[in-house]
Formats: sequence, structure tokens, C-alpha cells
Amino acid sequence: MSTPPATRSEGIPTRKAILKVLDGEAVWPQPIWMMRQAGRYLPEYRETRKDAGSFLDLCYTPRLATEVTLQPIRRFGFDGAIMFSDILVIPHALGQDVRFVEGEGPRLEPVTTLNALDNLADDLPLERLNPVFETLDRLSTALPRETTLLGFCGAPWTVASYMIAGKGTPDQAPARILAYRDPAFMGALIDRLVRASTAYLIRQIDAGAEVVQLFESFGSALPPALFGPLSFEPIRRIVEGVKGARPGAKAIVFVRGGGANLERFAEARIGDALALDWTLDPARVRPTLPARLATQGNLDPLALIAGGEALTRGVDHILQATRGTPHIFNLGHGILPETPIEHVEQMIARVRAAA
Ligand code: CP3
Repeated sequence: MSTPPATRSEGIPTRKAILKVLDGEAVWPQPIWMMRQAGRYLPEYRETRKDAGSFLDLCYTPRLATEVTLQPIRRFGFDGAIMFSDILVIPHALGQDVRFVEGEGPRLEPVTTLNALDNLADDLPLERLNPVFETLDRLSTALPRETTLLGFCGAPWTVASYMIAGKGTPDQAPARILAYRDPAFMGALIDRLVRASTAYLIRQIDAGAEVVQLFESFGSALPPALFGPLSFEPIRRIVEGVKGARPGAKAIVFVRGGGANLERFAEARIGDALALDWTLDPARVRPTLPARLATQGNLDPLALIAGGEALTRGVDHILQATRGTPHIFNLGHGILPETPIEHVEQMIARVRAAA
């Protein structure tokens, strides 16, 4: 076993708080970061975004992607910095047409047949993602030494659902129908994404990411018969592939709506941490998980918008339920653009002042 990266202060090696938790240690006060922490709720993000041109230009310009990644770190001193990019850069690098339409979200040229899939790259052309790796490289030197650098990718089912429908769709109906009608196509698409994501994450680690998070944002849409082949197995293959190639690598698995399947991930030891969405009660879930398996989450992003008592109660409940266990404080899903900055400050203060 290689020793995890150490940061040095006055010659005393102290491991970063998030890495300690991922190794199974309970750290208090808990380390904290937020999913989607670089984004439109920050005026400085909106400024940089205006100058960048398109959203993809922002993702692919290392100087600007580094800047927006650092913005929430400067302002709030989070323990983790997630590189600025998007889960849809993989279909883009594979050759699919991907655009982000202002006020509407992502738009892709739908891929629904094996023929159309054949027009995309079989192996991910990693060089097309060089700007992402350069961003990670810049961040590894720019970040404060106590801050953990996180990379990420979308889990195959979530990315596939965008590739098939060409946009976000309620309950991912087009992708689910296709999974029933054309399992050969679905299997080929998922397999392509497993291989692409594994190569991508390994390269992110080589570029400086200390932890990678897999975002299965649409885990709740899958019925039990499809969850195994389309979500659990692909995620397992990616995490095992990454860890096989880079044994020191750490992985966090976020399956939104994956509550019914948490045990499965825990039993198979997929991931160093399981990220809980806001529908789960950590007081119930935590005791069912192995003591040294880390968890992350899970404040309701809407409690963060509401602020006041709802926010205080929400934070306190998570802290009480997870105290003494390896837990990283976070939201139960991404922060929303309308969130007041003072509420973020209030949440961080509450977590850090916890007696
Ligand atoms: O967490 C971070 O700060 C890192 C950056 C990050 C973004 N997207 C930036 C972004 C991460 C980790 C993502 C992941 C992502 N992207 C997911 C999975 C996580 C989740 O929240 O469920 C998904 C499903 C996407 C796809 C995507 N990208 C959508 C649906 C949208 C439109 C959202 C909207 O509200 O317009 C995006 C665009 C996007 N990705 C934005 C940001 C900051 C906003 C676009 C902008 O600034 O104009």
C-alpha cells in the first residue's frame, strides 16, 4: 500500500481532512465541500462566465476553468475543490454534437442506433480532453495545501440518457424505453462509456486529481431489473478499473435516488465513500453501513435556499447522525443558482463550529 499524499506544515506531515475520511477516519469538525460549488450563485462566476463565450469554452479554457474552480475556495475555504468541467465532455470528445443553450440546458444530437454509435469514437480520444488535464495540473499547484482536488465524470447511465434523448427528460423515459426495446444498443453504449470513463478518470488522477467522484444523477429512474446492468455494474467496472490501474486512487460514488441500492454498493465495497442524496436519513442509513466506509452529504439544497431554522436544523441533524463516523459534509445534490451566499456561509460556520 502506498502512503496517501501528505501535506507538509513545519515538517509535520498532516494528511488532508477529506483523504483521512476516505481512509475511514472520523474527522471533527467534518471536512466540507459542495456539489456544483462553482456556479451561478456566485457573482464572480457570472462575471467570468460572461467573458468566456460559451459554457464549453469555459470548460475547455484551462486558465478560466482554473479560476472558477478556485472562486469558491477563496471565498469559503472549502476542504475540497472539484475541477470545473461537465459530465457531457465525454460524449463531446467521442464526437457527438453537444451544445449548452442559455436558459435551457444541454442539447445533443441524439444517438439511438448502433449505426449512429459507430460514428462515434470507440476509444475515448484523450487528447481532446487535454484542457481538462491542464486545468487539473494548474489546480494541483494553485490550491492551498490542505485542499483536496477532486475530479469527476458522469456515471454511464446518466450520460447515456443525455446521449439518447439529446437533452434532460422527465424520468429519462426515452433512454428507458430504448433499454427495453434494444438491449444490444444499450449494452454497447454503456460499454463504450465504461471504457471511456475509466480511461478519463485514470488520466485525471495522473494529472493531479486525488479523488474522483462518479455522478449517477438519474439513479432513481431505473427499475430493479435495469439498475444492476445499467447503473451498478458499470459503476463497479469503472471504480475497479481505476483502482486496478492506480491503487492509491480514491472514489466517491453518488447515486441520486440510489437509497434502495446503497447496501449493494457497500457490500461490494464499490467506492471509498457513498454520497447520500437528501431523501436519505443519515441517522437510519449510517448504522447499516460498515463503520469504516465513508459517507458524504446530504443537506437538502432547498433547505440551503430557505436558510434560517430549516438550515440550522438540517445541518445539526446530519452532524449528530454522522458524528464519530467517517463523514464528509456536503449537500444532497448540487447547489442551485438562487441560493443566497449568506446561507452558504451560515452552513459552513455551523459545521466548523460544531462542538
Ligand atoms: O460541481 C462543480 O462545481 C463542478 C462542475 C460541474 C458542472 N456540472 C458545471 C456546470 C459538475 C460536477 C457538473 C456535473 C453535471 N452536469 C451533472 C451531474 C451532477 C448533477 O448536478 O446532477 C449533470 C446532470 C450535468 C449536465 C448539465 N450541465 C446540465 C443539466 C446543465 C444545465 C444546468 C442549468 O441549470 O443550466 C449543465 C450546465 C452546467 N454545468 C452549469 C455548471 C456550472 C451551468 C451552466 C452555465 O454556467 O451557464
